[in-house]
Amino acid sequence: MDKAIEVKSLVKKFNDFVAVNDISFDVKRGEIFAFLGPNGAGKTTTIKMLTTLLHPTSGQILVNGYDPVKDQNNVRKSFGIVFQDPSLDDELTTYENMEFHGVLYGLDKKLMTNRIEELLNIVDLWDRKDSLVKTFSGGMRRRLEIARGLLHHPKVFFLDEPSLGLDPQTRTHLWNYVKDLNKKENITIFFTTHYMEEAERVAERIAVIDHGKIVAHGTLDELKKHTSTNTLEEAFLKLTGTEIREEEAGAADHLRMARRMWRRK
Ligand SMILES: Nc1ncnc2c1ncn2[C@@H]1O[C@H](COP(=O)(O)OP(=O)(O)O)[C@@H](O)[C@H]1O
Ligand SMILES: [Mg+2]
Repeated sequence: MDKAIEVKSLVKKFNDFVAVNDISFDVKRGEIFAFLGPNGAGKTTTIKMLTTLLHPTSGQILVNGYDPVKDQNNVRKSFGIVFQDPSLDDELTTYENMEFHGVLYGLDKKLMTNRIEELLNIVDLWDRKDSLVKTFSGGMRRRLEIARGLLHHPKVFFLDEPSLGLDPQTRTHLWNYVKDLNKKENITIFFTTHYMEEAERVAERIAVIDHGKIVAHGTLDELKKHTSTNTLEEAFLKLTGTEIREEEAGAADHLRMARRMWRRK
């Protein structure tokens, strides 16, 4: 099987609102695939369906040949993920965060020990293995999340806006790690980002989603040709328009809103 991900006529509705509107695409095994779109386009919702966290309203999905609706366990074992919102335990050390993940996945203790050392070395955190995560910068946290997501040797790795809020140096390093892993372990990479130059630099193929619809997909050259533009940024703006989108409400925003309501009482 040469497909890591197959999506056919996928739809997700939240009540009457159609967040993902009949999308179809494939990701080849070993490929680095960018899923781009403005805020609210449906990227995270799609990733949640691919990773068993949300049930599709309709359509078909295969991840590593398994159906996330019918075969959750096999799908879960076969992918790793870095979520859009941070998901580390601040009160644990680097090593403990790794170990905890390994226990959740039922990994063999001896094998896990070697793998943790290998991965923490790759993301340059081995010398900080005993530090509490609450002392970490944003970049260090992201690196740890990447290492953790790879602990169980996933075949597909999902990264949902992994570089958000990081400085350019850290972002460059982060993508070097990811590219390295893609080559060394032949891991398929599926990522989203708002930084077009990142997608331009690392993605082998790109899909652009807007208002729940895929508006273009192909290689960088194909997208530029299709839109008669010279850069991915220009192609992206031509495909998705220039009006400003509502900020997407993340967990932090919900918390802020809840706090504001509570104070008003
Ligand atoms: N649980 C939910 N209930 C209702 N609407 C949702 C829910 N999750 C996402 N949405 C809406 O679906 C749309 C797509 O969201 P999302 O997939 O998070 O976009 P993206 O990741 O591309 O920024 C947005 O309009 C968002 O507000
Ligand atoms: Mg998102």
